[in-house]
Amino acid sequence: MQPTGVWALTPPAEISEAEFRDWQRLLEQRAGMVLGEQQRRFLQNSLSARMRELSVGDYASYYRCVTDGPRGAVEWSHLLDRLTVQETSFFRHPPSFELLCRYLQGRLAERSPARPWAFWSVGCASGEEPYSLAITAMEVLRGETANAAERFGVTATDISLNALEKVRQGLYPPRRLERLDEALRDRYFSAQADGHFRVLPSLAERVCSARLNVLDLAKAPMSGMDIIFCQNLLIYFRRWRRREILNRLAERLAPGGLLVIGVGEVVGWQHPDLQPVADPQVLAFTRKG
Ligand SMILES: C[S@@+](CC[C@H](N)C(=O)[O-])C[C@H]1O[C@@H](n2cnc3c(N)ncnc32)[C@H](O)[C@@H]1O
Repeated sequence: MQPTGVWALTPPAEISEAEFRDWQRLLEQRAGMVLGEQQRRFLQNSLSARMRELSVGDYASYYRCVTDGPRGAVEWSHLLDRLTVQETSFFRHPPSFELLCRYLQGRLAERSPARPWAFWSVGCASGEEPYSLAITAMEVLRGETANAAERFGVTATDISLNALEKVRQGLYPPRRLERLDEALRDRYFSAQADGHFRVLPSLAERVCSARLNVLDLAKAPMSGMDIIFCQNLLIYFRRWRRREILNRLAERLAPGGLLVIGVGEVVGWQHPDLQPVADPQVLAFTRKG
């Protein structure tokens, strides 16, 4: 084994054509992720960084580490944390949240206290999206009822365990809140001594997180969702897979429920039970009935 300093200076070994194809196949089969020629260097650097940590000398041996039995499943999970893009922000696509706000206001009258609104953030990354959903719900319900927080729940799912841990912590450095309205920041976060902001427990307890690969949606227990947000996730998948995932999500919507996708993430998709929302700034559908 080489000393750490030498490892750090050694450039990653070139991945062979056959090895690259094996990794491409594995990532697409297991996570839907399509890595093209442009991502070859990214893959090579990510694999070698992890291989260096484990002192694994070549790509084929590391491939075996990832695919071999229960221990392989743990290593697969570490690798996914490196390969998935987890870029996100609070209220990332403002028109989608404005639509949500209008939609919830429109449903206030028919809201039943016995049935809290069910939200789902699919591919929730480090939590900014599910917490933005929770804040929107709180803002809409706040003037209506004394116990607004009990009137909704958010399920946040992702394939990355590292991302889900961040959701659970609900702790964000100040730059992540820079674009958040100051009044919302003061209402829903507490400033920590080190400058970070923590989501208030009353909001955090409305958000539950779980690991879910969107390729396994058929096995997921979610149903009767009032709101599903699936943004900036489908872009990493092939077109046929995006449609399949959307078909599965459509089945999980309650009658009248709202599905919000990232603008441009799917073109020409339709579902017999859904109708598109007439707003050119968003890509969203409501379930008939
Ligand atoms: C770019 S982030 C988007 C976060 C958030 N939805 C937003 O719009 O800001 C994409 C997220 O999808 C997750 N992801 C990637 N492949 C996935 C899969 N097969 N199943 C579930 N989540 C996946 C990644 O781990 C990452 O957290």
